Parts: sequence; C-alpha cells; structure tokens
Amino acid sequence: MVDMETIVNLCKVRGFVFQSSEIYGGIGSSYDYGPLGVELKRNVKEAWWRDMVATRDDIVGLDSAIILNPKVWEASGHLEHFTDPLVDCKQCRQRFRADDIEGDRCPVCNGELTEPRQFNTMFKTFIGPVEDEASVAYLRPETCQGIFINFANILQASRKKLPFGVAQIGKSFRNEITPGNFIFRTREFEQMEMEYFVYPGTDEEWFDYWVNERFNWYVKYGIKKENLRLRQHSKEQLSHYSKATTDIEYNYPFGWAELEGIANRTDFDLTAHSKASGKDLTYFDDAKGEHITPYVIEPAAGADRATLVFLLDAYEVETFEKGGKKDKRTVLRFHKDIAPVKAAVMPLLRNRPDLVETAKKLAQDLQKAFPTIYDDTGSIGRLYRRQDEIGTLWCVTVDVQTVEEDNQVTIRDRDTMQQIRMPIEGVKRYLIEQLGKDC
Ligand code: GAP
Repeated sequence: MVDMETIVNLCKVRGFVFQSSEIYGGIGSSYDYGPLGVELKRNVKEAWWRDMVATRDDIVGLDSAIILNPKVWEASGHLEHFTDPLVDCKQCRQRFRADDIEGDRCPVCNGELTEPRQFNTMFKTFIGPVEDEASVAYLRPETCQGIFINFANILQASRKKLPFGVAQIGKSFRNEITPGNFIFRTREFEQMEMEYFVYPGTDEEWFDYWVNERFNWYVKYGIKKENLRLRQHSKEQLSHYSKATTDIEYNYPFGWAELEGIANRTDFDLTAHSKASGKDLTYFDDAKGEHITPYVIEPAAGADRATLVFLLDAYEVETFEKGGKKDKRTVLRFHKDIAPVKAAVMPLLRNRPDLVETAKKLAQDLQKAFPTIYDDTGSIGRLYRRQDEIGTLWCVTVDVQTVEEDNQVTIRDRDTMQQIRMPIEGVKRYLIEQLGKDC
C-alpha cells in the first residue's frame, strides 16, 4: 500500500493538492486544491450529486448558508454537545484529544497531563462591527442543519411525499484539536450530506438500505472492496442525536478509519427545531389523516476525505516487460468518471509544425467534449509516464504517418497500455462512447 508521504508528494508535484499559505509557512491543516485536484474533487462531488439527486425522483437539493442564526446550534444541541475532551501537557504544552491518548502521560514528552476539559469545536465569529456576546455566530460544523430548518419550505415547494430526501454539498468548519493526515482531517472541509425523511417505524429498514447503497457507491467508482468495511458505533460512541450509526471505514495507510457515517437521527432534529422556533415542522400523512414528525436517515460523507480515498486506492506502481526489458511506472487507476483528465494529445515529434498543429487541433476539439490536455514537453515515453501518474485515461498520439499517409492516430489505454489506431475524425466519438459506457 502507498504511504501518505508518497501521495502528499505526488499531489504537490502534479498539482492535486498544495499546503495552504505555503509561502508564509503554511497554516495548520489547511490545503488548497491545484489544477488537477479541483477537477478531481469536482468529479467526486458530481458523481455523488448525480447518484444521490439528479437520477433519483425522491431526493431534491439545497444550498443553505454557512452562517445560520445561532439559535440553530442551541436547538440542535451543538452548543452543548459538539465538544471534544481536551488535555494539555504541563511540560511541553502540547494539546491532545483525551480519547486519542493511551495511558495518562503525554505521548510526546511523557509529561504530566491536565484533567480533560470539554472544548467546543465550533468556530466562533461575530456578525457586524461589534464583537460582543450579542453578535456571536458560528460557522456551521455540519451542513445538515440547513436542511432541517428548511424542512417546511422544501416540503411546501417540492410537494414530496415520504419517504424523500434533501441533499446538500458544502463547506463545514470544525476547530479540530488534532487535525492531520493530510486532507483526512482538516478544520475547513466539504461535506456531502443527505437527509432522508421516512415514516417512523420504517427507519431501521431505510437505515440498512442507505448503509448498503453508500458502501456500493464507493465500489461502483472503483474503490477496492477489501479496503472498505462497516463499523457500528457502540452506545457510548453515538452522537447526541443518533439512535444508530454505522461508519464506512477505509483502510488508510495510517489504519482503518471513517470515510463516511450513516446515522439514524430519529425525529431528534425536527422536534428540537420545532420546539425551539415554535414552527410546525411536521408532515401531514394523508392516509392516516394526521401530522407526524418524520424520522431521518443521514448518509454523511466528506468530499475531501473521499478525494483522498480515491487517490490512495487508485495509486499503483506497476512493473512490466517492454522489449524484453523490465520497466516500471506509477499509475493512478481512477474510475473514468473520477479521472480529472480524460485524454492527452501529443505529437510524436515536437519539432514538426504539421504534427504539432494537427495534435493541437485535435486536443481543442476533444476539449469541447471532455477534459483534455495537449502536451509536447518531452519524449513520448516521458509523456506517457506523466499522464499515467495523473490517471489520464487515454493518450492520443499524432505521428508522421498521420500527416503524411493515413490521417490515423494512435490511442493508448492507461490501464492495459494497449494501442489502437483509428482515423482522426473518429476519435472524439469513440472516446465519448467509452466514457459513456457503464463499467
Ligand atoms: N451531519 C453528521 C456529520 O457531520 P460526521 O461523521 O461528523 O457526521 C461526516 O461527518 C463526514 O464528514 C465524515 O465521515 C468525514 O468524511 C467528513 N468529515 C468530518 N470531519 C471532518 C474533518 N475535520 N476533515 C475532513 N472531513 C471531515
């Protein structure tokens, strides 16, 4: 398995992810997505949105504000419960999450630790120019509360019948005590959450359905089954709102850890917001002729964490034979929908203007249909290696024969390294067909 250092280096060199504010020495666990990273993460989010919203008639979308009325966080229980137990080392002054530490001494210097105290991990800010208690607000620590407080609006506007869901992708913020492991745990991150409202009594069935759906979603996009597992939370581990939670865990280089959580939030949130706001957040059940408060099943995923998993799982160093010699390449075997670049077009000889012109023209044409790059900055072997390392699905090469004889180009497949030759005018249609194919 690839180690984190290798992935972090590849991400920097190839332009997936950079340390944020690097020229100023960085800032704790903040990252910027580079030219390829932004495409990769967008593909992850688009795949999620497509499967969770666009292709389903029981789920609608929402894009709510990041800064909500602070009463939201009082009612949701976050002001009281969204805390981590914090301990300080009396000797080296480092801070740790108490539940991350084995034993009762500092893991860095073996010094004495303070008693644990609860630290609220919501980011505080102030609305307006006066920084006093009355103007305190919070950056949302989860996207779903925006969904709960809009329940009546969405119900009225969409006329959905139970069971139905509301999905949202957006930034969340947590003042994590111990962020780390690259983009696995950061203080600013993107969530992809869906709240699925169901009849009470059917919640356990729907919970199983969503655990299954979400596990299979990762497999569908190429994550190896053996690197995924399910873990049920024990009673002590459950969040304050949850009746049952199952995590989809991934086998990261640093061990098994959460990738996504699916929770049965019962009617906790709708009831709490209804009580605190005095507004009706019930659903009228036509069949029974009564108002009910739906239960909620929530698959909550992280876009950054999923992006990391797609990178880790795609990474492979492959040895193979070429011309009787052993050769080696690094390849990111991204699923076709996840790969940030679909095709690269290159001239075999960069000092031949006719080859360059033909290749550039083809790249521009392909670009209109899917992300394509033109590259002539090295020998063909080096260009192939570079494209393999960023997971480009196909390399299309324009050679002398193309311009002088047959108007055909070579298409090399990333995974098999097999090459086929076809007329230049058929390339776009062929690649679109390949991209459209179900795997
Ligand atoms: N609304 C429920 C909720 O927020 P969570 O398990 O705390 O549940 C859901 O978060 C997902 O969000 C996690 O499985 C993870 O993928 C992502 N996530 C949470 N905290 C994160 C952090 N500090 N950095 C990156 N991703 C995070």
